[in-house]
Amino acid sequence: MRKELETLRAEALERIAAARTEDELQEIRVRLFGKKGALTRLMKRLGTLPPEERPRSGELVNEARSRLEAVWEEKSRLWREAALAARLREESIDITLPGTIPPPGRRHPLNMVIADMENIFLGMGFSIAEGPEIETDYYNFEAMNMPPDHPARDMQDSFYISEEFLLRTQTSPVQIRSMEKTCPRLPVKVIAPGKVYRNDDDATHSPMFHQVEGLLVDRGVRMSDLKGVLLHFIREMFGPEREIRLRPSFFPFTEPSAEIDVSCMFCGGAGCRLCKGTGWIEILGAGMVHPQVLRMGGYDAGAVTGFAFGVGVERVAMLKYGIDDMRLLFDNDIRFLRQF
Ligand code: PHE
Repeated sequence: MRKELETLRAEALERIAAARTEDELQEIRVRLFGKKGALTRLMKRLGTLPPEERPRSGELVNEARSRLEAVWEEKSRLWREAALAARLREESIDITLPGTIPPPGRRHPLNMVIADMENIFLGMGFSIAEGPEIETDYYNFEAMNMPPDHPARDMQDSFYISEEFLLRTQTSPVQIRSMEKTCPRLPVKVIAPGKVYRNDDDATHSPMFHQVEGLLVDRGVRMSDLKGVLLHFIREMFGPEREIRLRPSFFPFTEPSAEIDVSCMFCGGAGCRLCKGTGWIEILGAGMVHPQVLRMGGYDAGAVTGFAFGVGVERVAMLKYGIDDMRLLFDNDIRFLRQF
């Protein structure tokens, strides 16, 4: 039996060393240590030996078994490690390669102007209000003192969704919505930036554009308050040397109404191509809130007064950045947008 064990041991070591594949190695394991493996069978035969030989033989079989197991285990471990290393090599990432860097985004010039305006008016104690872009005929026109068939509706040729709903043509409906929300408290002191829609399309008009509405309703609001607030806004936006002037105008929802001009920021008022030689550039519409609009908003037109204004954001952006075609603002051309 000892001889048998010696041969088995020598052969097994050779075969383990000679194994070339994982399958071969596994097969060797089953043949040696498995339930019907050679070593297991020897173990079982120990019982047939004379009692005095059993302990020593048992020892030898056990010793051979652990030695072979250790050799087998070592080879198997080396293989597993080599396989893992190969896989890691194959799948590894070269962290020294330059990455793909997404171009950093930036604010659109229109949003920059809106943010500037918000900051200027927040600084004067206004809050920011919003209204829906799909608006009712009531809020967009009727509550703004423009009943059906009012001729002023023509100037805002509009996109109707149904008889009742349209894309708002102005941010002015937010005046009524804000008054309704605040009434009966005072003051109503909001600006409302947002998109508006009109059936216009050329170098200075886009079917969609942006306005910022302003509204202040309180006891004793005067036209000089309007003028002071707008002068501060214009100077913050276009520089401290700017002047403004008010020209009489008409809006159904303000009385009196004014068109506000700013002294030309290109020639300083001397007269140039941009201000058409006048020294002044029209910038926004404004006026004292019409008593009918105050009533529609829920206020007592005998007790409170207010002013309102509406600024075209594209126009401000074009003047501020010297852009001569409004459509550039909507083309989404990175080369254009990168400049701001
Ligand atoms: N809603 C007017 C327009 O779009 C602007 C405006 C607003 C005028 C508020 C006066 C007061 O033309």
